[in-house]
Amino acid sequence: MNNSISGFSKLSKEEKINWIANEYFANPSEAVATIKQYWNSDAKLQQLHDEFIENTISNFYLPMGIAPNFLINGKYYSVPMVIEESSVVAAAAKSAKFWSTRGGFKATVLNTEKIGQVHFLFKGDSAKLAAFFNTIKNNLIASTESITKNMQKRGGGITALELRNKTAELENYFQLHVTFETKDSMGANFINSCLEQLAKSLKEEAQNYADFNDLESDITVVMSILSNYVPNCIVRAEVSCKVEDLAEKKIENPQEFAEKFVQAVRIAEIEPFRAVTHNKGIMNGVDAVVLATGNDFRAVEAGVHAYASRSGQYSSLSHAKIENGIFTFWMEIPLALGTVGGLTSLHPLVKIALEILEKPSAQELMQHVAVTGLAQNFAALRSLTTTGIQEGHMKMHINNILNQFQTTAEERKVIKTHFESNSISHASVVEFIEKLRK
Ligand code: MEV
Repeated sequence: MNNSISGFSKLSKEEKINWIANEYFANPSEAVATIKQYWNSDAKLQQLHDEFIENTISNFYLPMGIAPNFLINGKYYSVPMVIEESSVVAAAAKSAKFWSTRGGFKATVLNTEKIGQVHFLFKGDSAKLAAFFNTIKNNLIASTESITKNMQKRGGGITALELRNKTAELENYFQLHVTFETKDSMGANFINSCLEQLAKSLKEEAQNYADFNDLESDITVVMSILSNYVPNCIVRAEVSCKVEDLAEKKIENPQEFAEKFVQAVRIAEIEPFRAVTHNKGIMNGVDAVVLATGNDFRAVEAGVHAYASRSGQYSSLSHAKIENGIFTFWMEIPLALGTVGGLTSLHPLVKIALEILEKPSAQELMQHVAVTGLAQNFAALRSLTTTGIQEGHMKMHINNILNQFQTTAEERKVIKTHFESNSISHASVVEFIEKLRK
C-alpha cells in the first residue's frame, strides 16, 4: 500500500478522517466512529480545539485531577494536574498532606531571566566587529521599540544585549546574546519577534557601516531563536522539619528513614542511571501542572534536563541533608512559564486550572510547579526507601487492568475486596480475573 498523499492539509476534516480510516484500518467505519466519539458536541468548542493545530481529526483526552492540601508559603492551594500515569496525583496529594502538618512547602523565585540569540556568520576582523557592535548597540535596541513598548509598560523588555565571539568553537560564528524579562508571559513569541528584528537591523547596520569592507558588511544571519535553556530563571522549593517529626504510620523509625532518604538522594546525585529516573519522578509533578496550565512542557523538559547536566554530568535536581536534627529536602529548577498569552486565555480548562490556582502570576506558578515536583519526588523516595514502589503503583494501576478486561461492577467488587489483603501485580490480578470467570 502507498500511504503517501499530497495536499492532505487542504482536505476537509471529514475527508482527512476518511483517508486515514481507509488507508490504515481493516474496518474503516469502526475507526471513524472511534475518532468521532471524542469530538465535542459543542461545535464552537470543537472548532476552538480543531484550530489549535493543523490537520486535527479528534481530541486526545488526558485526565485532569486535583491534588489538594498543598501548603505553600503559609497558604493552602489545590493543584490541578493533567497526566495519564495512575499513581501521580495520589502521590502528590499524599505528600501535600504529609507536609501540611510539618510546616508546609517554602518556595522562592531566585531570578526570571529569559534568553534569546541571533546566530550569525561574520568573515572579517573580529575587533572591527566588536567596534561596530558598540557603535550600533543602542540603534539595535531602539529598532525593537514597537515590539517592546507594551512589555516595557508591564516592567519587562530587553535587559541586556551582548556580542559573543564563538569562533574558537566554530569558524566565523558570532552571536547576539540577548536577555529578556517577560513578566507574566512565557515570552516565546515576544522574544522571537525581538530577535528577528535585531537580526534584520544588524544586517542593515552592517551594510551601512563605513569601516567594513564588502566581505565584512555582508553578515549572514543563520537563525534567530529563543533558548529553552534558562539557568537564570530559577525557582527553589523546600521542605524541612525535625527528624523526629517525620514519624508516621509507615515511618516508624524517623532517623533511619531520614538517613536512607538522604542516601537515596546522594545516589541520584552521583549516578546518572538513577538520576534520570529520580528526575523523571520530579517531572511527573512538574509536567502535570505545566500541562494543566497550558504551558509548554517540551520547553520545560529540555531546559530542566540541560540544567541537571550543567556540571558536565547528569545529576539529581533535588538534594537532602540532616543537620542538627533537622531534615531538609529541596531543589532548584529552571522554569520559563506564563500565566498570560498562549493557551492560557484560549483553552477553557486551562482557564479553570488557573482559577483553581487563584490566578497566579508567572512567579507564583513557578512556585506551585516546583513544589509539586518536589512533592512528587518526596513521595517516590518515601515509597522506594520503605515499602517499594509497586505497592502504591499497583493499587492505582488495578483500575487500568480491570478496564482492560472489561470487568463488570460485580466482578470489580469481588476483585477489589480480594486485593485489599493480597499483594497486587499485573499477573496476580489477571490470574484472579480468569479464575473468577471460570
Ligand atoms: C515513576 O513514574 C517515577 C519513579 O520511578 C520515580 C523514582 O524512581 O524516583 C517512581
